[in-house]
Amino acid sequence: TARVRIHHLQQAKERGERWAMLTAYDTYAAAVFEEAGIPVLLVGDSAGNVVLGHSSTVPVTVEDLLLLTRAVTRSTSRALVVADLPFGSYEASPEQAFGTAVRMMKEGGAQAVKLEGGARVAPQIRLLADNGVPVMAHVGFTPQSEHALGGFRVQGRGAGAEQLLADARAVQEAGAFAVVLEMVPAGLAAQVTKELAIPTIGIGAGVDCDAQVLVWPDMAGLTGGRVPRFVKRYADLRGELLRAAREYADEVRSGTFPGPEHSFE
Ligand code: KIV
Ligand code: NA
Repeated sequence: TARVRIHHLQQAKERGERWAMLTAYDTYAAAVFEEAGIPVLLVGDSAGNVVLGHSSTVPVTVEDLLLLTRAVTRSTSRALVVADLPFGSYEASPEQAFGTAVRMMKEGGAQAVKLEGGARVAPQIRLLADNGVPVMAHVGFTPQSEHALGGFRVQGRGAGAEQLLADARAVQEAGAFAVVLEMVPAGLAAQVTKELAIPTIGIGAGVDCDAQVLVWPDMAGLTGGRVPRFVKRYADLRGELLRAAREYADEVRSGTFPGPEHSFE
């Protein structure tokens, strides 16, 4: 089967077909999700939390994401791979954004990039889109701005609704091929989805978006502790891995592993 292209996502919206996006950071997850038919994989800077052990996405570097993007693009042939632009790698100017995006495509093998912000980053989106870089935008709660936004909170409530609508319109107008809506009231996300021609991808934005995205270790129950309200856990990989590691260690201690079938004469 051929690679998923941005026009396929546009056609899905026109046909009213919803689709799922997942993050991926390594070869196993990327290959499994592609086999499951997930059309779009995001090498998210959520890697800061779920791969690199940071407590936010702020410390993630371009080099960090290049390494993970290469792993994902080497392991897939059909999924559209989108690489996040990390905090500090695109905000200063459209030229800075272009330089980073080109690295994600040339060195990382990504087919598109994602950046956070609305009207504020419209000039960046415009330069990239005009020069061969498909751009996914990300509005609502934008984790790289966690400290400016005052923590993890729903965006676009009350007077914020007009701002969110304006940001969504601005990224479409600038040439984004899709937009992530994060932690936005469901009714507002539905309104944005209806108004925009490009697909909306929700995370904590209700069921009326054109697509949904989740961070895979959250979705698969690998993440320990509390997860946000918008996460649904479809597996308990943490529990399963814990069980496997304990059983292996027990069998080594008791001399049950390795057995004759794992040994050479
Ligand atoms: O980094 C990430 O995983 C993301 C998604 C949650 C949209 O930006
Ligand atoms: Na991200």
